Amino acid sequence: MRTTVGIIGAGPAGLLLARLLRGAGIDTVVLEARDRAYVEQRQRAGILEQGTVDALRAAGAGARMDREGLRHDGIELRFDRRRHRVDFPALTGGRSVMVYAQTEVCKDLIALQLAEGGPLLFGAEALAVEDADTGRPRVRFRHRGREDVLECDYVAGCDGFRGVSRTAVPAGVAQVFERTYPFAWLGILADVPPSHHELVYARHDRGFALLSMRTPSVSRLYLQVPEGTKPEEWSDADIWRELERRFETDDDWTLRRGPVTRKSVTSMRSHVHEPMRYGRLFLAGDAAHIVPPTGAKGLNLAVGDVVTLARALAHEKETGSAALLDAYSATCLRRVWQAERFSHDMTGLLHRAPDATPFEDRLQLARLERLTTSRAAETDLAEAYTGFPLD
Ligand code: FAD
Ligand code: DHB
Repeated sequence: MRTTVGIIGAGPAGLLLARLLRGAGIDTVVLEARDRAYVEQRQRAGILEQGTVDALRAAGAGARMDREGLRHDGIELRFDRRRHRVDFPALTGGRSVMVYAQTEVCKDLIALQLAEGGPLLFGAEALAVEDADTGRPRVRFRHRGREDVLECDYVAGCDGFRGVSRTAVPAGVAQVFERTYPFAWLGILADVPPSHHELVYARHDRGFALLSMRTPSVSRLYLQVPEGTKPEEWSDADIWRELERRFETDDDWTLRRGPVTRKSVTSMRSHVHEPMRYGRLFLAGDAAHIVPPTGAKGLNLAVGDVVTLARALAHEKETGSAALLDAYSATCLRRVWQAERFSHDMTGLLHRAPDATPFEDRLQLARLERLTTSRAAETDLAEAYTGFPLD
């Protein structure tokens, strides 16, 4: 099998890249290890930055998002039983975010790819990227029990944090920057209308809690739990009681309960793999970097990477110049590190470390207090949350 750009992984990064390259007249083959139903049901991100929304629209993948997505003009910070709203458009010159689940983004892109795009093979697991530093890189993969080879001009490693692409970069070339956290998120989906019309990020002595949503009738909620927690350790009743405690306010706000349809635990990690390119292999999305979920940056970073990569490949095709491809890693990493910084800061601002001292608790509250009293501090948060522009 042969193609111009071999794409490993059909998450948001791989799917959008395939779509963008089709628009530029560049052929692709997408290899995805899992089956279609799995990829379409995997519960993950929910918040799209303005730039992500714009990119999906420009790729012709925004129709259902524009009908069903929920535009959000702010978030609420909750601490000390108080509530503070951050107004995005007022602080950023009109920017906002969109609530539209990653599952739906993937469904839309898969439908388009199958209808109009190049091959998208489900159940096709990449085993290795070979000869990445030559003019003829190859992906060895297994599909329906048979081993095969995809010969490419370029390989895009969009296979997430646990993929194989990254392992093709020799240890002496790669530099990894990493940090783990001693807590995780227990997330639920519940068939109940959200208890607030915007997201609520709560800092509490018992730990962080987040109220989010998927649709006007489906809530998504998260609780900070110790690292290593298993979902079955928490009954539904225990989860609702703990959420109520952490969201408690001095006014008459109440949390609506409903049937829990899904429960899972996500660990938290910061990770950057530099450079994001090795020869003709380009890493994009979670394959190259992970952020802790506080701040909702992961999917948005993946979109930023593939927009940059598609532009660079199209430029090379049109002009013969590899200048943008050569700049790919550095261009992406500037934005990646801003998102790493923001996600790390938001995590530190809102979570309670198991060994937090009273002094650190007071500092955390002082930082939150500062956000509610300084327009400069609040603007900094609003700009980062709604997204850093692409270079
Ligand atoms: P992935 O979505 O991981 O896709 C990689 C794909 O590659 C997968 O389909 C996988 O099956 C496939 N694959 C892996 N190995 C192979 C192989 N060897 N061969 C072939 N295919 C392979 N981000 C946000 O922006 N906003 C949010 O609100 C947000 N909330 C989150 C909440 C949670 C609970 C979690 C877990 C994450 C959240 N994120 C959020 C992060 C976001 O989900 C990820 O950053 C995003 O999925 C990255 O997309 P990707 O395409 O790079 O990788
Ligand atoms: C969601 C996830 C996040 O990490 C976040 O900061 C906001 C919302 C969500 O899944 O809805």
